Amino acid sequence: MSSLTAAPLLQPLDAGALELPNRILMAPMTRLRTLPDLSMQPIAETYYAQRASAGLIISEVLTVAPYGAGYGAMPALITDAQKASWKKIVDAVHAAGGRIAAQLWHSGRVRLAEEFANDDGPFAAPRHPLMPATLSREDLAAMPRDFAAGARAAIDIGFDAVEIHAGNAMFLANILRGDANQRTDEFGGSADNRARLLLNILEAVTNVAGASRVGVKIAPNSSFQGRFDPTVRETFARLLPRLAALGLAYVQVNRASTVDLASCTGETTPLEWVRQHYPGTLVGAENFGLEDGAHAVAGGTLDAIAYGRPFIANPDLPARFAQGAPLNELRGDPYFVDGERGYIDYPALESVEA
Ligand SMILES: Cc1cc2nc3c(=O)[nH]c(=O)nc-3n(C[C@H](O)[C@H](O)[C@H](O)COP(=O)(O)O)c2cc1C
Repeated sequence: MSSLTAAPLLQPLDAGALELPNRILMAPMTRLRTLPDLSMQPIAETYYAQRASAGLIISEVLTVAPYGAGYGAMPALITDAQKASWKKIVDAVHAAGGRIAAQLWHSGRVRLAEEFANDDGPFAAPRHPLMPATLSREDLAAMPRDFAAGARAAIDIGFDAVEIHAGNAMFLANILRGDANQRTDEFGGSADNRARLLLNILEAVTNVAGASRVGVKIAPNSSFQGRFDPTVRETFARLLPRLAALGLAYVQVNRASTVDLASCTGETTPLEWVRQHYPGTLVGAENFGLEDGAHAVAGGTLDAIAYGRPFIANPDLPARFAQGAPLNELRGDPYFVDGERGYIDYPALESVEA
């Protein structure tokens, strides 16, 4: 039995250099299955390979610079051991017939360089409490180089693409915001100044990977201190055409989350508005199901949907959508606790039927 509802999502999609067999993508999701040196545990090979039927898997976020390493246990793509662990994951996904992009980020400077000297971790894995420090102009000028190194590593390992994480309420998202970015140098102030860092990073990364293998996740609907960005339309009306001119593989954009909608002031930015300013491949995310995802793709607002939590519970989500089969419910297991439970133990359809 094939589901007519799913038809728009089951169409192949050419996204830049990526030939995707369907439009049901796996959203980036941090799960913290790392070893003490921040390379991946072997169990992650199984987790990602189980999900290889996604049109594209977008990896959990990977740190590109020791001084922007987020918090402990987040994976990185800097040392040889970290790269080797990701190569095994990429190979496992390819062997299972899939495609995978590396999501790259920088958390902002959460520790000061001097602190690294006494660190006994793999490279400055931050210890709590995190101490955010203002990035200097020199830090920002150097950041494209760090992202380019991450992109180089990802492509060398065999990742099919890289995605720059300027989404959620993360560092690169906040520097775009008129209310959060308080800088007075060329990286703050006007919409063009606030976009400068991201565009510099994209220039460096596209030089390494080729624009047709680069995606970016943006966050017009992220919240910061309890509100949506009042300058968001001005910012993204400038940024989106410039992203389009780069010829990227895709732009990924989230709707406002239910939690943010319930707790934030200000206006959200509908994905229809984003589409008006971005003619290229547009991937939507946040709380999509089969029907509203298929509807958004059929109507042309989006080209594909990135599903997050449904892919945790359903390793074979495209097959379930295609067959109109019931979905596994997400159990209450914590996302970030070590081990197999809630990670690789959700059944695929064949094992349910058997
Ligand atoms: C456990 C978990 C980890 C996440 N980690 C990341 C991440 O590393 N990078 C990112 O861009 N988004 C991350 N997200 C957000 C997801 O990519 C996605 O946008 C979000 O879950 C909404 O989609 P959904 O409603 O289909 O789950 C995470 C979400 C979850 C549930």
